Amino acid sequence: MNPLLIPTDLVTRLRTARRVAVLTGAGISAESGVPTFREAQTGLWARYNPEELATPEAFRRNPRLVWEWYAWRQERVRQAEPNAGHYALVEMERRIAEVALITQNVDGLHRRAGSQQVVELHGNLFRVKCFAEDRPVENWPESANIPPRCPHCGSLLRPDVVWFGESLAASALRVAEQAAVTAEIFFSIGTSALVYPAANLPFTALAAGATVVEINPQPTPLSPQVTFSLNGPAGVILPRLVEQVWGDAVGISECRL
Ligand code: APR
Repeated sequence: MNPLLIPTDLVTRLRTARRVAVLTGAGISAESGVPTFREAQTGLWARYNPEELATPEAFRRNPRLVWEWYAWRQERVRQAEPNAGHYALVEMERRIAEVALITQNVDGLHRRAGSQQVVELHGNLFRVKCFAEDRPVENWPESANIPPRCPHCGSLLRPDVVWFGESLAASALRVAEQAAVTAEIFFSIGTSALVYPAANLPFTALAAGATVVEINPQPTPLSPQVTFSLNGPAGVILPRLVEQVWGDAVGISECRL
């Protein structure tokens, strides 16, 4: 199916929807130059071993390696800009009564684009917390220590992201599940639908009778179940969708599409 051809039935449903939930993954930031995780060759996990960089055990073994790797990822994201896909979701949030934007991304690009209602399921690259006390830390004294130390207890500071084998924040997961249960339309955008519990959310929405839309150039384990499957880049499809639902009404330039 031509990805730029948006099903008219989807356009109609979205035009009348009042509650929409959107789950995003690394794919929505791909067009901003931020690498995804599982893409062959280019994906982070194709180049780096997650066991050595994204687990509490890896951090205990070599905290400096892990800290510097996240510092490198921060730099990549600082050089990136939100893309048309991010901005189209901002427009959706402006046009629909209730939009819950649930992201697995730790890059903060949704907020940088202007999205307000963002649930960061896997944390944020630009936040830090104490490894021992698990509490956020905003300021710490300059020192030669890498990673720096917690100003309260002297333990190591770590990136405030969810590592493999760790649980998600209960409050974030609760909000995400509630949004999936009550959504009329649920979008799954740029995620391989392989990492749980986030990958459960589209199925929760399906079970609750929602219209489920997947936007991804590649098929995923979710694809056979969805109502609409739009196989193309989010940065092309989302602006097109917004244009077809509200294009005439809003005047596209506002969305920086
Ligand atoms: N538009 C839409 N989707 C895209 C695009 C694009 N331009 N480019 C790639 N994709 C799709 C890929 O086809 C793939 O299915 O995005 C998906 C990215 O999948 P992953 O790399 O597995 O990323 P994600 O699903 O977000 O990973 C989930 O795993 O590594 C952990 O904690 C990390 O949050 C991450 C979680």
